[in-house]
Amino acid sequence: MVIPDLRKDFVTDFIWPAVQGNATYEDRYLLGTALARPLIAKAMIKVAVEEKAQYVSHGATGKGNDQIRFELGAYALCPSIQVLSPWRMPEFYKRFPGRNELFEYAKVHNIPLPVTPKTPWSMDANMMHISYESGVLENPDHHAPDGLYQMTVDPEKAPEVADIIEIEFKRGVPVRVSNAAANVTKTDSLELFLYLNEVGGKHSIGRVDLVENRFIGMKSRGIYETPGGTILIEAHTDIEVFTLDREMRKIKRKLDLEFGDQVYRGFWFSPECEYTRKCIDLSQEHVEGVVTMKLYKGRCYILGRKSELSLYNEELVSMNVQGDYEPTDAGGFIKINSLRLKEYARLRQQEKQ
Ligand code: ARG
Ligand code: SIN
Repeated sequence: MVIPDLRKDFVTDFIWPAVQGNATYEDRYLLGTALARPLIAKAMIKVAVEEKAQYVSHGATGKGNDQIRFELGAYALCPSIQVLSPWRMPEFYKRFPGRNELFEYAKVHNIPLPVTPKTPWSMDANMMHISYESGVLENPDHHAPDGLYQMTVDPEKAPEVADIIEIEFKRGVPVRVSNAAANVTKTDSLELFLYLNEVGGKHSIGRVDLVENRFIGMKSRGIYETPGGTILIEAHTDIEVFTLDREMRKIKRKLDLEFGDQVYRGFWFSPECEYTRKCIDLSQEHVEGVVTMKLYKGRCYILGRKSELSLYNEELVSMNVQGDYEPTDAGGFIKINSLRLKEYARLRQQEKQ
């Protein structure tokens, strides 16, 4: 049996690019499962090649995204491999039409399970998140049962005292997290991420309950908790707006959206995703500085930011200092911009007459 510890690779090779790209799917899902799949596929293929194996296999169902992610990953990294997917084989799914039959089989054969009929949902847990779906959660209006969440405490039980943390970014990725009051400073990527999960979980940060569109075409309900990832994307968004040129960021945000879709759909190892990752990384050259945040009762509040590389010019924006800016110029700027608005309004008025 081979069980490699890939936590650090997960953080630096997958979670960090997701932070640089503020990666989400359909605005809210932070892709915790989708990001882990290409890493698992890569590790699986490495062993398969070493063992000269012809086949690899996975346990994803025939209805979800994961089968696509594992298999596209495997074929992209080793075109000659063949993938066995038991859930898509009639001899398997006819024998086990649902979870109850699987529970029964596991009981008869003494196979320990992380889920029981009392927690009737499917979980995918990794360092970035835990996802919960299926079972009772298939009814999209069935509220998350008490005791479901495992990485975050309920907001009602979160401490009355906030934690104030500093996150330092270089090239759009965190290089230091400090919490002065708790005497914590972390600079190692893995330790830093684990600390953000811990402190985020303590303050109930990063819970979402949503309905998403699976790649294969059906909608599904998912519940996610992503404490560290949520903190990082909020902080990164802040430092990015502070340091990036406006027009460049506008283009970059379109790539972010593409990137999120590519990851969700299992195309990590594809020409288009290599391209978006490289472009996003290039955009991050000057995204550096420190963001200070307060974590309290399910939210991260930004308190401030500083950067040596920011394009922010206090003198230019100040209401008290003239700076290198003529207010009269703004009059012309507005006049020219209003031209087409006036023409449009004139046309509308004519129509009414
Ligand atoms: N719906 C999410 C996604 O597609 C989570 C999938 C969870 N996978 C699982 N095997 N439970 O990324
Ligand atoms: C599965 O179907 O195996 C889990 C859910 C998904 O892959 O979307």
